[in-house]
Amino acid sequence: MLRHFTDLVDAGGDAIAAILNDAMDRKAARTTWPKGRADADAPLQGRVLAMIFEKSSTRTRVSFDMAMRQLGGSALIMESGSTQLGRGETIADTARVLSRMVDAIMIRTDDHAKIEEMARHATVPVINGLSDQSHPCQIVADLLTVIEQGKALPGLEVAWLGDGNNVLHSILEAAGLMKFNVRVAVPDGYEPDARFVGFARENGSRVTLTRDAREAVAGADIVVTDTWVSMGQAHAEEKIRAMLPYQVNAGLMAAARPDARFLHCLPAHIGEEVTAEVFEGPQSVVFDEAENRIHAQKSVLLWCFGLI
Ligand code: CP
Ligand code: NVA
Repeated sequence: MLRHFTDLVDAGGDAIAAILNDAMDRKAARTTWPKGRADADAPLQGRVLAMIFEKSSTRTRVSFDMAMRQLGGSALIMESGSTQLGRGETIADTARVLSRMVDAIMIRTDDHAKIEEMARHATVPVINGLSDQSHPCQIVADLLTVIEQGKALPGLEVAWLGDGNNVLHSILEAAGLMKFNVRVAVPDGYEPDARFVGFARENGSRVTLTRDAREAVAGADIVVTDTWVSMGQAHAEEKIRAMLPYQVNAGLMAAARPDARFLHCLPAHIGEEVTAEVFEGPQSVVFDEAENRIHAQKSVLLWCFGLI
């Protein structure tokens, strides 16, 4: 059966665990190698990934390209504005054409329904490279980063501060699948979609929703935030004002466990959702997290091809 990676729940907990194990093994096997050299087994030799971008990207673009190189394959980038998609060709036709030409498709879009539509019509794996709803590849990298920090996922206490956005939705899916707990501190009106909270809770995760940032962070193992204004959203003063009490600063970090780590998917807005002191401080692992996009996505790709 075709394996799409449109959201973490499509893969399921066993697959996520296998993806994380494979990512750790592959990362360990090439620590001193030049970044463009293929892994010894080059498991995706001859395979090509097409990447469609309807939104900006640095990490997703470069990490998928490098992931394909390290797996022995290659990638090509399609900026949707310079393709016929940008002139109204349907997702269905684009999916069928690309399926005849490449071996897998990654899409970053403003509308999650387009990813689902692509998956319905493609006959090759489709990967969600971020939508307005979710960012599953990011969270695989985040879980890898947490494990590297010596923390087990079951029972982990994760505090999310700020906007209840796409990244939080994928964290909530991961929480249900991998059995960790999430304390969500967001202002009134910026809560995550109740479906994701419901999924986590129904699957044994303890999810706390609070307006109090300090309450969420108290005793947390992981503190995570993201931009207050996601791509495609208006930069509303009213929203920024509402977010101010949720800034991750040194005072707030001090309420977490002493060995807590700070995560941010990047790009960061220093002085808004996080201060320089925390971002550059000893608890911050944001650049490990960014590098791990490559390692995580290699194993996501291998899962899509049925190789793990
Ligand atoms: N974190 C992340 O997805 O970064 P980019 O927007 O640069 O791809
Ligand atoms: N929530 C952010 C994540 C960027 C990687 C956005 O959607 O813009």
